[in-house]
Amino acid sequence: PAKVYDHALEVLKENDRGTYTVPTKGLYPFQWNWDSCLTALGQSHYDEGRAWTEIETLFAHQWPDGMVPHIVFHVYSDGYFPGPDVWGTNRPTATSGITQPPVAGFAIRRLYDRAKDKAAAAERARGLLAKVDAWHEWFYANRDPRSEGLVAILHPWESGRDNSIDWDEAFERVPTEGVAPYTRRDTQHADPAHRPTKAQYDRYLWLVEHFRALGWDNSRLHDASPFQVVDPGFNAILIRSCTDLADLADALGEPAIAAANRARAAKGLAALGSLWSAAHSQYVCQDRTTGMLIDSASIGGLLAVFAAIPAEQARGIARTIERQAGLVKYIVPSHDPADTRFEAKRYWRGPAWLVMNYMIADGLKAAGETEIAARIVESSLELIARSGFAEYYDPLTGEPCGGGRFTWTAAMVIEFVE
Ligand code: DGY
Repeated sequence: PAKVYDHALEVLKENDRGTYTVPTKGLYPFQWNWDSCLTALGQSHYDEGRAWTEIETLFAHQWPDGMVPHIVFHVYSDGYFPGPDVWGTNRPTATSGITQPPVAGFAIRRLYDRAKDKAAAAERARGLLAKVDAWHEWFYANRDPRSEGLVAILHPWESGRDNSIDWDEAFERVPTEGVAPYTRRDTQHADPAHRPTKAQYDRYLWLVEHFRALGWDNSRLHDASPFQVVDPGFNAILIRSCTDLADLADALGEPAIAAANRARAAKGLAALGSLWSAAHSQYVCQDRTTGMLIDSASIGGLLAVFAAIPAEQARGIARTIERQAGLVKYIVPSHDPADTRFEAKRYWRGPAWLVMNYMIADGLKAAGETEIAARIVESSLELIARSGFAEYYDPLTGEPCGGGRFTWTAAMVIEFVE
């Protein structure tokens, strides 16, 4: 463990740009929203002040309407596509125009809880409290316009699980006509066979151009988007962050913020039940444009255990992961290996990701499913020992895939071993 910790630290330091950390140099040369919040957890083990700075830097680029963008383009780089000119968001520092899974509320509560210097942590947390609350408020106002209790993502990139099988059907409705010619950069840094396809990229860009033409006006984007998907994992993260922010607000003497977030979490948890699939023994996505559940057993539906779901559902998810463990060498695969659409090396269509393992194990442990939680952690550390700090891993062989020397992978390892 000492050696693995040292290696993880080396990766974090190598990708540290002073006030923010890049996910990995080359492939992802800017600040990514949820990467940063999860990275801060790893940083907190060796420098609490630096960990708070990571999240503060992200929130310094929060939009006036409350949204926190998924990428902040701090410095120029032509090695990434789509860059600031494609997004065209007209922010003082260029940012993308979509958001990402809101792990910030969870992360800052954890930073505060474990802080050795409580007074300093309270001050830093107090500075972020209203900002995170504003982001949560933004979500329910703009992504749940009919007040159903669950928010929709409008772009697969928002989920963080870019090319998941979850989006395939809904993505068919996204046109590709008129997309400006472009050159991908991701396939120059990583094996194209491990990345999303050209057909998917065309649609990613069509949506970006569509939203840009609407002036990135968030009050209009939801209803104007042909892609509206309710992802149980995404919602579970938001619900968990609302609960954690409420607890933190209580600790810091901010009862109004606490009450608002507790109400959001309660409503979200009640609504999440409608996404349970008994057939798959896990949650599944809902296509909001048709109202139908999507028949795709992906890791998003297992990640739902990150919120305080009922014990019966948590047990069901534990059993599902146990079943999958019989089909792959390393858990947790990002899609059910028994599904013919499973692809062991293609990004979010099968590979294992350590951030998912971290959040799923955390939720299972809280639900009392400690044995399977421990197995997930064990599997994660075996992957590191076999293949280093990769972006993600083939769950059948353990082979490293995507970018190398990956920040959030290293951060999760520090969380696991410390
Ligand atoms: C990418 O460019 O692959 C990212 O996942 C989008 O945020």
